[in-house]
Amino acid sequence: MIHFKNVTKIYDNITALRNISFSIEKGEYVFVTGPSGAGKSTLLKLIYLAEKPDEGIISIAGYSTDTLKDRAIPYLRRNIGVVFQDFKLLENKNVYDNIAIALRIRGVGEREIRERVHEALKLVNLRHKADSLPSALSGGEQQRVTIARAIVGEPTVLLADEPTGNLDADNAAGIMKIFREINARGTTILFATHNRDLYKNTGCRVIKLDSGNIVYDDLE
Ligand SMILES: Nc1ncnc2c1ncn2[C@@H]1O[C@H](COP(=O)(O)OP(=O)(O)OP(=O)(O)O)[C@@H](O)[C@H]1O
Ligand SMILES: [Mg+2]
Repeated sequence: MIHFKNVTKIYDNITALRNISFSIEKGEYVFVTGPSGAGKSTLLKLIYLAEKPDEGIISIAGYSTDTLKDRAIPYLRRNIGVVFQDFKLLENKNVYDNIAIALRIRGVGEREIRERVHEALKLVNLRHKADSLPSALSGGEQQRVTIARAIVGEPTVLLADEPTGNLDADNAAGIMKIFREINARGTTILFATHNRDLYKNTGCRVIKLDSGNIVYDDLE
């Protein structure tokens, strides 16, 4: 599903990832951890093709960075949902439209959109907030909207970068439960966090980075 082969990423003169290789199979739930600056966000950005590798090859869902044309990037991204810490919702659109937009830009019909948005809202327990504006929601609720937005297109891979970073422990636990459910439906998840509490005792695979190197890759 995702393969990194001898991947190096350099920003100016900082080597963010150094010759790293690993593979993730379909349906895995993998935590990417390590201290600040270790390269976690860079690793996710490479998968999302927000950044390109300087050396090595990344292949994702049948696409490979050595042959990929820029115009194919939007198609690849349809396979990938993203949730970040600093969730960005459109402030002038309600919850329903914030989620529907991901499908509208792909030309999905409004009837199917309605079904899929309601299904996504059900998963994150926010059906009753469909008509609310983001400003009327708590931080935890807003983050749940971004999760619904990320999964409404039924991506094969979900990338999460410190998605609970701004939330209290109860809200974080709720979000972790939702991620479990999404993974149980077959979606491959890569979850970047420096917070061990989020993955200890989960039995998930943990890839630990330090200064751009993989220093650990095993089951928790
Ligand atoms: N756009 C950029 N330009 C220059 N350097 C960058 C850029 N993005 C990241 N870096 C550097 O690359 C290294 C890895 O950064 P990255 O954001 O991947 O770390 P991280 O593990 O996600 O850290 P954090 O836990 O603080 O989010 C750091 O040294 C960082 O300063
Ligand atoms: Mg980061």
